[in-house]
Amino acid sequence: MGRVICLVSGKGGVGKTTLASNIAMALNNFGKNTVVIDTNLTTPNLGFHLGVPLYPKTFHDVLNGTATYEEATYTHPSGLRVMPAGISLRDLKNTNLSQMDNVVLDIADNHDIVILDGAAGLGKEGKASLSAADEALIVTNPQLPSVTDALKTIKIAEELGTKILGVALNRSKNHPSELSQNEVEALLGYPVISIIPDENHIIDSLAAKTPIVAFKPNTRSAQEIKKLAACLIGIDYDIPVQKEYGLFSRIFGFLKG
Ligand SMILES: Nc1ncnc2c1ncn2[C@@H]1O[C@H](COP(=O)(O)OP(=O)(O)OP(=O)(O)O)[C@@H](O)[C@H]1O
Ligand SMILES: [Mg+2]
Repeated sequence: MGRVICLVSGKGGVGKTTLASNIAMALNNFGKNTVVIDTNLTTPNLGFHLGVPLYPKTFHDVLNGTATYEEATYTHPSGLRVMPAGISLRDLKNTNLSQMDNVVLDIADNHDIVILDGAAGLGKEGKASLSAADEALIVTNPQLPSVTDALKTIKIAEELGTKILGVALNRSKNHPSELSQNEVEALLGYPVISIIPDENHIIDSLAAKTPIVAFKPNTRSAQEIKKLAACLIGIDYDIPVQKEYGLFSRIFGFLKG
């Protein structure tokens, strides 16, 4: 039976889908048989992040019993398995959330790791993904509104008995106005296990429909996400010295032509 890890947040737009697609791809590259599922059923967009073409069958159909896992799963050129959610309003209206636990359990039987890209907020959808998962990674930005909303999600995860792996602090700009790692840990009561910088490369990677770990694997954000994925499976990953982005190397590179 594989592990089921859900990425959740209180506030929307903090980077769950970005991290879910990247972590899943990194885990798959580490040799773990991984599937990433879009459990954000009302505003799904995992498919866009991974360049999945419009798909005839989706997670909605699997939940409603009108498609099998195989029919609703796309294999990315990298080998990663992806189950997108339906983007039509019809899908939105008829979704059987009560089936999520069983469906995910079945899928976990045939994989090492199932990553669930969760919905923001504290509604039924977010709760359904948290309840279908064994473990949760809390995603937040280093600003107070996002952290206070993360705290509410943590309370729900605790009530549901989902083990919290820690906090991923995304879009850090190292700005004095941001909450520090210590402050976030004190507010949430869980360790920050990764700090991912705010980088325009990530916005470019979304436009290119390719996760940053494949699009620009040497960037700091890609390396931090790889390290986070490695940490989730208990392996050490040392970030190589960022030669190409250091000032010295850039000057040196320029002089070398
Ligand atoms: N580290 C980062 N640096 C720069 N941009 C980022 C970073 N992480 C995410 N983004 C951008 O922030 C936006 C929101 O990210 P994303 O869709 O992953 O958030 P989300 O939490 O899944 O949102 P939702 O709650 O709507 O599902 C995207 O445009 C994404 O490219
Ligand atoms: Mg999302």
